[in-house]
Amino acid sequence: MIEVENLHKSFDGNKVLRGLSIKIKKGEVIALIGGSGCGKSVLLKHMAGLMRPDQGHVIIDGNNVSTLKGKKLTTLREGLGFLFQGGALFDSMTVFENVAFPLKEKTRLSDKLIDERVFHELENVGLSGSEHKYPSQISGGMVKRAALARSLVTDPETMLFDEPTTGLDPVIGLSILNLISSCHRRLSFTGIIVTHEIPRVFEIVGRVAMLHDGVVRAEGSPKEMISSSDPVVRSFVGEDAEAWSLCEPERSGSQDQ
Ligand SMILES: Nc1ncnc2c1ncn2[C@@H]1O[C@H](COP(=O)(O)OP(=O)(O)O)[C@@H](O)[C@H]1O
Ligand SMILES: [Mg+2]
Repeated sequence: MIEVENLHKSFDGNKVLRGLSIKIKKGEVIALIGGSGCGKSVLLKHMAGLMRPDQGHVIIDGNNVSTLKGKKLTTLREGLGFLFQGGALFDSMTVFENVAFPLKEKTRLSDKLIDERVFHELENVGLSGSEHKYPSQISGGMVKRAALARSLVTDPETMLFDEPTTGLDPVIGLSILNLISSCHRRLSFTGIIVTHEIPRVFEIVGRVAMLHDGVVRAEGSPKEMISSSDPVVRSFVGEDAEAWSLCEPERSGSQDQ
């Protein structure tokens, strides 16, 4: 469970977060949407303990991330996976070495167990056979898959995805969203997906929150967001989503397959 309460953060007078509150239940994944520069990445960084709030706090599974220090913060971070915006791999390491990296850093597993975990995770993201390639030798979509495998290999309880599909072509982007969804079914983490993939992300989340002017301007199911009368939400969610909602019966049928 993630609880954000009255979070404030400014940079040199630029008030980015202005009393933001949101709760995400254990095992739930929500989509976080909002204009460019509105503070989505800043919010995720507070959740990961990478930024300290001016006021307010973030509580993850009962631990106040905003005040934790030293070993306790390290332990909390170990239970957290972060797929960064631009989610780069280490260029000088193979795909295998990249995915093995957090296990080597954070655990005392034997090399044999690490090998097993890494091969298993790479299989799950469809990268079997590419273990020994370097990031420069694979496509952008494969880099994202590898970064996803790296963030999931430690089996985190909380996953933060910052624009996981940005820069990918639409088909590959959709496959990454579907992959996140199947990983969630398998691992049941609590998570947030920051994305501009509207309406496509609506297929894989039960709830959407929209950030605007430093607070959560609106939250609800994809359907509620689409039928919102709030002009700010409407301008953001737009006509694509309305068209999407009309196709819904077919969509939910195909999802069960
Ligand atoms: N470390 C920082 N120092 C100064 N300003 C920052 C820093 N990080 C973010 N900002 C500012 O905070 C605002 C929100 O940024 P960000 O959260 O990255 O936006 P987005 O919603 O696109 O992810 C932007 O105006 C950005 O310039
Ligand atoms: Mg961002």
